[in-house]
Amino acid sequence: MASSRQDYDVLVIGAGPGGYVAAIRAAQLGLRVACVDDWDNGTGKPALGGTCTNVGCIPSKALLQSSEYAALAAHGLAEHGVRVGKTTVDLARMLARKDTVVRQNNEGILFLFKKNKVDFVSGHAALRAPIEGGWEVLVEPGAQVLRARNVVVATGSSPRALPGTPFDEERILSNTGALMLEEVPRSLGVIGAGVIGLELGSVWRRLGAEVTLLEALPVFLGVADEQIAKEALKAFTRQGLKIQLGVQITEIRPGPNGVLVRYRDGAGGDDQKAIEFERLIVSIGRVPNTAGLDAQRVGLALDARGAVVVDAHCATNLPGIWAVGDVVRGPMLAHKAEEEGVAVAERIAGGAGHVDLDLIPSVVYTDPEIAWVGQTEAQLKTAGRAYRSGSFPFAANGRARAAGHTVGFVKMLADAATDEVLGVHIIGPSASELISEAVVAMSFRASSEDIARICHAHPTLSEAVREAALAVDRRTLNL
Ligand code: FAD
Ligand code: NAI
Repeated sequence: MASSRQDYDVLVIGAGPGGYVAAIRAAQLGLRVACVDDWDNGTGKPALGGTCTNVGCIPSKALLQSSEYAALAAHGLAEHGVRVGKTTVDLARMLARKDTVVRQNNEGILFLFKKNKVDFVSGHAALRAPIEGGWEVLVEPGAQVLRARNVVVATGSSPRALPGTPFDEERILSNTGALMLEEVPRSLGVIGAGVIGLELGSVWRRLGAEVTLLEALPVFLGVADEQIAKEALKAFTRQGLKIQLGVQITEIRPGPNGVLVRYRDGAGGDDQKAIEFERLIVSIGRVPNTAGLDAQRVGLALDARGAVVVDAHCATNLPGIWAVGDVVRGPMLAHKAEEEGVAVAERIAGGAGHVDLDLIPSVVYTDPEIAWVGQTEAQLKTAGRAYRSGSFPFAANGRARAAGHTVGFVKMLADAATDEVLGVHIIGPSASELISEAVVAMSFRASSEDIARICHAHPTLSEAVREAALAVDRRTLNL
């Protein structure tokens, strides 16, 4: 397929979930593929998998799981009649386990590249120049020039720092430092009560830190459905997370013993408050990685945030250059990046890959878990769409009661006229798994009645999803 002047049909820049999946899919489709990645975990060895594998999804979930076991052993087993002695945490071992999980994933991707005959190149890639029917890409170190018919930019994102407050990863931590603390801090401040703040704040609270989250917005978890966010705020506050809303940070001053944070709170007025934390996580969103690409040199269009501008098919303004994942518009989620990677590979191979950005599920892996897909009630109201709503609490679900996980509920929103499911919002046990049924149903444009008429195994948490569907028609069986 490639002309003799080109080394590859597809050159992928970045081996995160967007890039490595694009590379594998393109190779499966018979294309000659290489993937360049520059991640360095300080071991001198390539560490494939990007943010997700190295400092994101995987290590955060490893620590969430370990810290959940610690919390369970300390407080959750007695009600089941299981007595364990005094719980102690071996943090060094917990972190080492997390690092092993990361390494297994790094190596797994390298194995998949070999299996699928994807050439892996360790280094930093920049766009060099167009050539006939393709592009030249420069890889450093070594000034290696690779030629490819198509380039897929999958360079991901990096944590956004507060202006004037760079991360030192000692006291002022991004997600990277927050996943590596060698001691549990007595006090931990978190700026930004978004997904990272809640997940990593939960980890360190469970391990014994006093955690305070300072959030700029006046509402909690504004991206979620309002009812879900309210339930979450109640649950997290009960657990001991201190959450302050409507906060304006005025100063951050690192010192030898901690970090002093001055801020105005949501109560209004000019009064400043100050708290000293032993460590501070700043989790206020992420910025696309385009700085090192030499985008300007070749005329690759970027938006005001520095993200690569793409159309609905992830094509950029330059023929043969595509972009996927965190470096483009849309939610910064690993599964969204993967879907785009697959779709682009299929398009390059002449197929018709497509991603429906309206059906990307969101999950927050706290306890309780939070997950949703589709529209919130507020979005439907703003759009003027008539809908019916049905909810079912886990307190009325037999499996949840048996497990002792009765906090939360499932809420389903369906079109008032057609009954098509428009949104499903879950807070409660295994919400991350339960949401898949909703994504499948909505992908097939199911009605709430369709879900209500499907047999769900008993006793399972999934019965709560069915009951929420029944509730849309005001005919729950177990409430
Ligand atoms: P990335 O994973 O960022 O990978 C990009 C890769 O490209 C990196 O290896 C980078 O070093 C490399 N690179 C960049 N520029 C160049 C260059 N010029 N040359 C060569 N290589 C380059 N998402 C979820 O869906 N679920 C979760 O549970 C979840 N948890 C998260 C937890 C944390 C703490 C964080 C920070 C993020 C989490 N995310 C989660 C988000 C998820 O990690 C990202 O959405 C995902 O990694 C994006 O994938 P990507 O392939 O676009 O980019
Ligand atoms: P986020 O966008 O989830 O949350 C950032 C929060 O910081 C927002 O609530 C915002 O209002 C607040 N904020 C912004 N500026 C502020 C300021 N100056 N002072 C106080 N608060 C401020 O971003 P986060 O948590 O950094 O995560 C980054 C990305 O990583 C997210 O887009 C998310 O999708 C992804 N991620 C996904 C996870 C998952 O899927 N479970 C887990 C962790 C991260």
